[in-house]
Amino acid sequence: MKISEILFASHNAGKIKEIRQMLEPLGIAVKTAEDMNLPDVEETGTTFAENSLLKSQTMAKAAGIPCIADDSGLCVDALDGAPGVYSARYAPNRDFDKGMDKLLQAMAQSNNKSRKAHFSCVVSLSFPDGKYELFEGRVDGTIAEQKTEGAEGFGYDPLFIPDGYDISFAQMAKADKNKISHRGRAMQKFKEYLTSL
Ligand code: IMP
Repeated sequence: MKISEILFASHNAGKIKEIRQMLEPLGIAVKTAEDMNLPDVEETGTTFAENSLLKSQTMAKAAGIPCIADDSGLCVDALDGAPGVYSARYAPNRDFDKGMDKLLQAMAQSNNKSRKAHFSCVVSLSFPDGKYELFEGRVDGTIAEQKTEGAEGFGYDPLFIPDGYDISFAQMAKADKNKISHRGRAMQKFKEYLTSL
């Protein structure tokens, strides 16, 4: 089975750019929910896998073509894994500059002084007949003492320094981030699956 067209169940411009960069070299055209006039699916699950599947299954059925979705977030040790699946909602009015300030403030108030954190991502691929596959990725790192200046990335990137680096995701070239990021790693597994078909 060769997949030539896939729907990506997201309205997030940053993610759409990253996914296109990964799949277009494989000859897979990426359609977005906006292209197909599909509304957002509410993320009512409590795990990354649940939310990811909720999105891809609903949209694959609605669009009649295979659909990938991802659910991802930042888990901070000192905050017992928060904001986790609530990462997008944690930022007031989805303003990540404010969201990062809120995170730094919460960490400063926590008794746990660890700076350790990880990004997690579950990519799901669903088919209109209900079959699905899950691919997981994770990247470990630390939360910077303050926001770093960098033009790249989105969301919490200016705060996240991946292990083995001394620059944040916001300071890395997109292609370099894609190689080691949670989404990049989950997508790598997804690509291996596609080439095995
Ligand atoms: P969702 O997966 O669309 O529910 O959103 C997860 C949220 O986690 C995003 O809105 C970002 O705030 C954050 N997030 C996920 N991946 C990344 C990343 O690669 N960099 C920075 N923030 C991210």
